[in-house]
Amino acid sequence: MENRPLEYDYTVTKMFMFMTIVLGIVGMLIGVILAFQLAYPGVNTILGEGLAEYTNFSRLRPLHTDSVAFGFTLSGIFAAWFYIGQRVLKVSMAESKFLMFIGKLMFWLYAVGVVAIVVSLFMGITTSKEYAEFEWPIDIAIVIIWVLFGISIFGLIGIRREKSLYISVWYFIAGFLGVAMLYLFNNMEVPTYFASGGVGSIMHSVSMYSGTNDALVQWWYGHNAVAFVFTVPIVAMIYYFLPKESGQAIYSYKLSLLSFWGLMFVYLWAGGHHLIYSTVPDWVQTMGSIFSVILILPSWGSAINMLLTMKGEWQQVASSPLIKFMVLGSTFYMFSTLEGPIQAIKSVNAIAHFTDWIVGHVHDGTLGWVGFMIMAALYHMAPRVFKRELYSKSLMATQFWIQTLGVVLYFTSMWIAGITQGMMWRAHDEFGNLAYSFIDTVTVLHPYYTIRAVGGLLYLVGFIMFAYNIYKTMSARPVEEYELQNASPMGA
Ligand code: HEM
Ligand code: HEM
Repeated sequence: MENRPLEYDYTVTKMFMFMTIVLGIVGMLIGVILAFQLAYPGVNTILGEGLAEYTNFSRLRPLHTDSVAFGFTLSGIFAAWFYIGQRVLKVSMAESKFLMFIGKLMFWLYAVGVVAIVVSLFMGITTSKEYAEFEWPIDIAIVIIWVLFGISIFGLIGIRREKSLYISVWYFIAGFLGVAMLYLFNNMEVPTYFASGGVGSIMHSVSMYSGTNDALVQWWYGHNAVAFVFTVPIVAMIYYFLPKESGQAIYSYKLSLLSFWGLMFVYLWAGGHHLIYSTVPDWVQTMGSIFSVILILPSWGSAINMLLTMKGEWQQVASSPLIKFMVLGSTFYMFSTLEGPIQAIKSVNAIAHFTDWIVGHVHDGTLGWVGFMIMAALYHMAPRVFKRELYSKSLMATQFWIQTLGVVLYFTSMWIAGITQGMMWRAHDEFGNLAYSFIDTVTVLHPYYTIRAVGGLLYLVGFIMFAYNIYKTMSARPVEEYELQNASPMGA
């Protein structure tokens, strides 16, 4: 794809790689703290009663979800876009001062946005909508950042030399359009300060929708955030990095297009599975269930395409830890996209909803698929953007096994905990009296919460090993002397 001698400019890629690592460490560290808080409530006041307002579970939880989803994951996606985009479109960022400016502006606004989000969430300023907690001034900043992202995508496409758009570019465009639409509609809100003529906090707002409508829009958004943040751009990444790393052509281009359109069409109708047995109309719930089951087809279409790309070259899985990350990542993707549809079946959801089984599902997808793929992408990019050899392949292999053990401990403990919880909550005697009180379930679940916390800790340890490996790669001697002049602002 990149045979011509074109000097790609990775300044913005490097900036977002740095952000991916920092926010990954912060977000996962908070995840580990949350996990220990659930197992050992004393951890809520670990910094003393005086600071408990800031360190308790409810204040930290949105900081975790937002820093891993919109911090770690989005930064990884941006880093990958500014790398893949140039290469598959055969155009360098250096060729357009305007696009370079847009990329850097996007990064710095994003950095300011991150600080604003961390401060406001710590202060308890929140809309209280999951994954959409930010108040209206931050929403406006997010929209501007997203527009800049769009300009970078369509700008690079506009000046490209390669006529055909590689499948990854399709997925990036879809990710951009999908999030733009979801974010705008779900965050339609009225700032109360202005609406009431100056009463209360300037940050506060209320949703434009109310009651059941609000819930419907929220979960149309929530579910599709999974589609357009945790799935579509990550698929874009693997479609580029797996063939590059393995030297194999993608198994089927037709299948990639078929599953692309399948994902686009089916995902948008499945959000109702978050609201089963709620006040939304029954047909919406049934539609959510049915489309969720259909969603297996395009999801597995992509995953099988990725796995079959390794056809005839399976020995690489044994020899290359980087290929291991991608192949296991695809496997976890298959896994969570089978588990999700099962949980969307009404009778199964009656047991699974509100339980830890959902949290298990979330993390086999995010840790096993999203996390593994983003780390694999950074591992692939680091030697190329810093023009240095990767510091240690054996450290990467050790990290792979530590993190795999971490994910397995996380989701198996949450499966057992969740199904136990669901069964205990509904158990009753022959007169209809509940067999257990809530505290009974809490006691039974304690060991599983501890196992999850240990699993999460292992994953974090692996992530710190990854950060160290990238740092050592960056600061190693350049592969060729002349590249010293092009060395990264953060490196060497
Ligand atoms: C075929 C694809 C998928 C389907 C049909 C699906 C289905 C579901 C269902 C039924 C729930 C539980 C709703 C509830 O009762 O509360 C759920 C929750 C969730 N899933 Fe999936 N899932 C899929 C793939 C994924 C993937 C690949 C990821 C992440 C990489 C993911 C992340 C999540 C998240 C974050 C939640 C929790 C939302 C919340 O309550 O906060 N899902 N999913
Ligand atoms: C060291 C790794 C991690 C640990 C220990 C961890 C731990 C946790 C804990 C304890 C919760 C709260 C569960 C509850 O409320 O019962 C949670 C929620 C969540 N985490 Fe993580 N997490 C980790 C990494 C990640 C990553 C990398 C992502 C995404 C890329 C992620 C996405 C989420 C989401 C979406 C939720 C909300 C789930 C729901 O509402 O059902 N986590 N995590």
